[in-house]
Amino acid sequence: MKDLASAFTAANAAVFAKLGLDSKHADVRRSDRPDLGEFQANGALAVAKAAGKKPQEVAQAVAADWSATELSPAPTIAGPGFLNFKVTADALAKRAQFVANDDRAGANLVEHKRRVVVDYGGPNVAKGMHVGHLRASIIGESVKRIYRFRGDEVWGDAHFGDWGFQMGLVITALEDELGGFDDQAKLDARLKALTLEQLEAIYPAYAKRVKEGDIGVRDRARKATAALQGGSELHRTIWKAMHDVSMAAQKRDFASLGVDFDLWLGESDADPLIPEMVEDLDKKSLLEDDQGARILRVANPGETKKKKRDDGTVVEVESPDPLLVVSSEGSAMYGTTDLATIVQRMRDQKPDLILYCVDQRQADHFEQVYRAAAKAGYAQRDQLEHIGFGTMNGPDGTPFKTRAGGVLKLQDLIGQAEEKARARLKENEIGADFSADEFEDVAHKVAIAAIKFADLSNFRGTSYIFDLDRFMSFEGKTGPYLLYQAVRIKSILRKAEEAQMRAGAIAIEHDAERSLALALDAFDGALRAAYDKKAPHFLAEHAYNLAQTFSGFYSHCPILPSEGDVRASRLALAAATLKQLTLTLDLLGMDVPERM
Ligand code: ARG
Repeated sequence: MKDLASAFTAANAAVFAKLGLDSKHADVRRSDRPDLGEFQANGALAVAKAAGKKPQEVAQAVAADWSATELSPAPTIAGPGFLNFKVTADALAKRAQFVANDDRAGANLVEHKRRVVVDYGGPNVAKGMHVGHLRASIIGESVKRIYRFRGDEVWGDAHFGDWGFQMGLVITALEDELGGFDDQAKLDARLKALTLEQLEAIYPAYAKRVKEGDIGVRDRARKATAALQGGSELHRTIWKAMHDVSMAAQKRDFASLGVDFDLWLGESDADPLIPEMVEDLDKKSLLEDDQGARILRVANPGETKKKKRDDGTVVEVESPDPLLVVSSEGSAMYGTTDLATIVQRMRDQKPDLILYCVDQRQADHFEQVYRAAAKAGYAQRDQLEHIGFGTMNGPDGTPFKTRAGGVLKLQDLIGQAEEKARARLKENEIGADFSADEFEDVAHKVAIAAIKFADLSNFRGTSYIFDLDRFMSFEGKTGPYLLYQAVRIKSILRKAEEAQMRAGAIAIEHDAERSLALALDAFDGALRAAYDKKAPHFLAEHAYNLAQTFSGFYSHCPILPSEGDVRASRLALAAATLKQLTLTLDLLGMDVPERM
């Protein structure tokens, strides 16, 4: 069944067509002047000129022809020719009843199913997962769920960063620690004892040395990277130990964040495809030698940018930069594994679309890779899309760091949020009668909801400031508020059940009931917008609006104390709201507890 906006648009388009007006302008939308009508159409203004009439006249003609459908009586005209529609109580009741009866709470499926890979999360082996990967995980998980819910066939892929320079760097550090790799027994024992904490300490220490100009370490790390990729058994064994330790920890982190993948693949999994790919690129004459490296140019003629050279002079260079395919050491680079991964996905999943949910700051990288893939014929440019996002900032407005200036580990962040959740629950006198297990479970769900909703309630392109106190508030636009509202409806329905009160046919009488029916009707539109724009915040907004509208309904329209058909109708509205709110929160990656 169509949502009201679509049904109005279709009916209005029929009137437009009959009057010989371009029905492309027949759009009917929710109005921002509910005093005039809940829906509005502004198209008379756009078509008036072509029709050689005044907008007012066009609007009058449309209104006259609007044969009071069951949706609404004839529209009224405001201003220069705006049409305002008031929905009939019947149409609202029908739509709310549909949401109440429908397993999908009123959401439609896509017309044409697609095969979609969502690349998100992307933590790096040996570096541990930190807040930088938080947004990629939260937004990507939600986009994946939204696509799947709309009916597409979807694979989430973690695309672990497990094949680049950082691997060579950690191998070099280990070599220094052991004084070489000659003693096999010593190496075996060391690898066996390797922990994530150690890797997380080794990596930044050595990365810092390279950053500070230690060319010796840099060159050895580059060589180690090339040896690893070249198939050295020693390097591969060391790599595998580091890989397994990191992977186990990252799986645990993802699980506690409620993030799950269908493909737990990484850069290294694309490695076997690289030799053949490079050969293919070569055959297609796409590679050029550049000081010992091999590059693939992706800029079109005339696409340039200004670049400042070390000596201060400014030159025009091609833009985007060429993709570095093989380094002068013979290594595969970040872009090489990304390109080979496209080949791999096209072979294995045969996707119509690959979405990359990665920090906006990597936009140039993806532009290079996508253009290269299109040039090589591995994918069409419009099959590849970067879903960029802004940063999560600290109070100073720069990317979030710990008080000591380091990156906060994901586990620690979740731990902090849980601690705050426990405190808030206690302040609000929630859970005093829960078992310890249930209390912990609720605190965890509240913590995750707070973190995720704070992230997803902003458009993904916007950066935001991390403020756990605000995210964890039980009032206002927060995750905990939404869980609390959902749980409140559960408790109402439980009481009704205990008293053997039954839900029945929905009737819309009170204004607060009208508002709630309209809010329920808006779900499909929000879902479509979130899907089309790859932007979960449309659903976050919907969840908040629905919860608030329910709150208004509940304070004006008593449920349990009312009687007969009125009570049955209100119970059905409450159940429909809970179902849709739970579904929406699930699409955002949030779980609702049984009680709180
Ligand atoms: N590992 C990368 C990083 O930490 C993110 C990977 C994103 N996905 C991709 N296909 N490149 O920056």
